[in-house]
Amino acid sequence: MIYEIKIYGAQELRQISTEVEEITEEIKEILENMVETMHDIKGIGLAAPQVGINKRMFVIDIGDGHIRKIINPKIEYLGEMYEAEEGCLSVPGIYRGIKRYEKAVLTYTDENGKIVVEEGDELLGRAFQHEFDHLEGILYVDKISPVSKRLIAKKLKSLEKNS
Ligand code: CO
Repeated sequence: MIYEIKIYGAQELRQISTEVEEITEEIKEILENMVETMHDIKGIGLAAPQVGINKRMFVIDIGDGHIRKIINPKIEYLGEMYEAEEGCLSVPGIYRGIKRYEKAVLTYTDENGKIVVEEGDELLGRAFQHEFDHLEGILYVDKISPVSKRLIAKKLKSLEKNS
């Protein structure tokens, strides 16, 4: 099942999501639907709040042959910060450079209930940080420079109006 993506302005994107207490069949189904939705719109990551579900989980597929289903993640940041261009399925049509840490270590539960510790750099490291932020109600456009922000202010306003 393909979910509808919540767009900038939707209140679900601004909430702090709550922990998944038990990995039920329903949770597994939601994760599967999220993967399907992410593939359908050719995204590399999708967090539950983006489909209106404020639970601490997200899916990532950066094309390395490993589809990650991530539940209740904890994050640790490593290294220096550097800027790279990002986009977000909930902020369509906008791509901007933002600073993130070189690496991130995620400790999470997978869909089988196994605890996984994974370090990611480059694209995966960014995806970890970007998707984790969604669980805290943070969007990448919150982190862009003030100048950049002024340049996209109009676009954001119009997304907000239509959300
Ligand atoms: Co996003």
